[in-house]
Amino acid sequence: MKTIRDFDGRLAGKKVLMRVDFNVPLDKETGAITNDLRIRMALPTIRYALERGARVILMSHLGRPKGQVKPEFSLKPVARRLGELLGADVKFAPDCVGPEARSAADALGDGEVLMLENTRFHAGEEENDPEMSRQLAALGDFYVNDAFGTAHRAHASTAGVAEHLPSAAGFLIEKEVDYLSRATTDPDHPYVAVMGGAKVSDKIQVLRNLLGKVDAMLVGGAMAYTFLKQQGVEVGDSLVEEDSLEVAGELLEQGGEKIVLPVDHVCARQIEADAEARSFDDEVPAGWIGLDVGPRTVELFKQKIEGAALVVWNGPLGYFEIEQFAAGTEAIARALADSGATTIVGGGETAEAVEELGLQDRISHVSTGGGASLEFLGGEVLPGIAALE
Ligand code: 3PG
Repeated sequence: MKTIRDFDGRLAGKKVLMRVDFNVPLDKETGAITNDLRIRMALPTIRYALERGARVILMSHLGRPKGQVKPEFSLKPVARRLGELLGADVKFAPDCVGPEARSAADALGDGEVLMLENTRFHAGEEENDPEMSRQLAALGDFYVNDAFGTAHRAHASTAGVAEHLPSAAGFLIEKEVDYLSRATTDPDHPYVAVMGGAKVSDKIQVLRNLLGKVDAMLVGGAMAYTFLKQQGVEVGDSLVEEDSLEVAGELLEQGGEKIVLPVDHVCARQIEADAEARSFDDEVPAGWIGLDVGPRTVELFKQKIEGAALVVWNGPLGYFEIEQFAAGTEAIARALADSGATTIVGGGETAEAVEELGLQDRISHVSTGGGASLEFLGGEVLPGIAALE
């Protein structure tokens, strides 16, 4: 895979069309950016191009406006935050294609940055419309893709555009691929995967792929109850995916003793911050919902993590949005931070939990990709990356 370094010596005065994933979480009421990790992680590539005198034109999507102009999904506030982080003026074009985008791109000086409006305001983006790709490509001399979080989408700005311009990956994609590959190809051993989250069905491919590589797979989160029910354990009113019981059975068979399930549970009768919480060993009694792994499970998981050379973690181990069900997720985040292992955390909620605890600098790699990191760990080829190869 080529990287932006391959364009060295050719960037001065040239327009670098760069796809970033600035699909950042926004506060539902105020619209404020609640986590700017994805913007910060794109800075090295942007700075690299600027320092070499390039004219940087950034494109991204935000949310799912489905081909319509929806002001609540404007990238303008994101451009403002980027400007603060870069310590530089970031210009903004109110469209990503058409005359306004073209004139803004043409007006750009060496070492200046322009952010284009949300690519998903056009239906052609998600359709990977060749005409949209052509129009985007016409804005630049080089194409750099650093949008790891969107690399699993074959869209006009991630895949289509690469057909028209000399193309390369940015440093974020390079780093993501470097770390995530360590989890899928020739991994170090002992290798431990920690899998959580609500649904088995979201992660079947990852579970299957990693089970063939790991020494232990520690399963927590609501997902664990589908496995436990399949084993005939009483799970009370815990979330169970009835449709996934069969596949859970297949995975249990495939994984054998590698799969480690919770041995105790923090439970409540309702999912509420002030609900009475109680720990139960082994089973969840009728009328109770398992909402976090219990202290014995935490100890069991910690022991496995302490001896590992490589740990991959995806998915919270409990309902961590509520303080009294967050202890399992917190303990595992700390166990990863304290371990001497190479530690890789999948994106989305797991990355948010690590950031909330301020532990991101003590994890080897926190992925900026939610769906993208899952597909990568599932062994799939990501079209945004394949287009650069
Ligand atoms: C993400 O947040 O996972 C990416 O930005 C992709 O967004 P999407 O799921 O709306 O395609």
